Amino acid sequence: MLILSPSILAADFSVLGKQIKEVEAAGARYLHIDVMDGCFVPSISFGMPVIRSIRRTTDMVFDVHLMIERPERYVEEFAEAGADIITFHLEATEDPAALIDKIHSLSLKAGLSLKPATPVSAMIPYADMLDMLLVMTVEPGFGGQDYIPESTERIREARRIFEARGLTKDIQVDGGVGPDNAHVVLEAGANVIVSGSAVFRGDIGKNIEKIQKVFWDFEK
Ligand code: DX5
Ligand code: ZN
Repeated sequence: MLILSPSILAADFSVLGKQIKEVEAAGARYLHIDVMDGCFVPSISFGMPVIRSIRRTTDMVFDVHLMIERPERYVEEFAEAGADIITFHLEATEDPAALIDKIHSLSLKAGLSLKPATPVSAMIPYADMLDMLLVMTVEPGFGGQDYIPESTERIREARRIFEARGLTKDIQVDGGVGPDNAHVVLEAGANVIVSGSAVFRGDIGKNIEKIQKVFWDFEK
């Protein structure tokens, strides 16, 4: 199943609730929520209070991407705030397996994310346990960056690793993806597409329609 997960990092926060409604009306099922701590990544975004507020406005799947050091400190709070999926970075924690278990014990889906420089093979020990692998297609920290072309082969490698083990897991891509290159990541094996600027810059409904057209063409 192909899923679009618009990243609210690119939204206009003065009208966030309204823009989420637009995204939902256009047919997106996931909402990508980027949490940054100023340590794991250079920038700071937002945290639990924002998630709690928007949780009251929509039933969309909250796809929370934690770009924070030692994410194990906060997963209960993010669960309570309304996360449905919690994705953390392999590079940010000492015991990814324990953290995946902890996320599952809260009845949430667990995602594991890899920065562009981390070998894709580093996820092999967790391939069975995780629900989603996030292959970062830019350096995490900022929206609006260009897709790193080497990412395409990394997505392929991740899909091969799952297939070799008979696993049908979600592969998410995040960074610099929009209607012009979505077909590239889909062909490589990704099925959950994060898109920030390409959704929120300009007409949200039209932007989403353009990406969905790429999905339909791919599924044909
Ligand atoms: C980057 C974030 C992304 C970002 C994507 O660190 O994880 O989710 O919002 O934004 P675009 O689609 O603009 O590259
Ligand atoms: Zn993200």
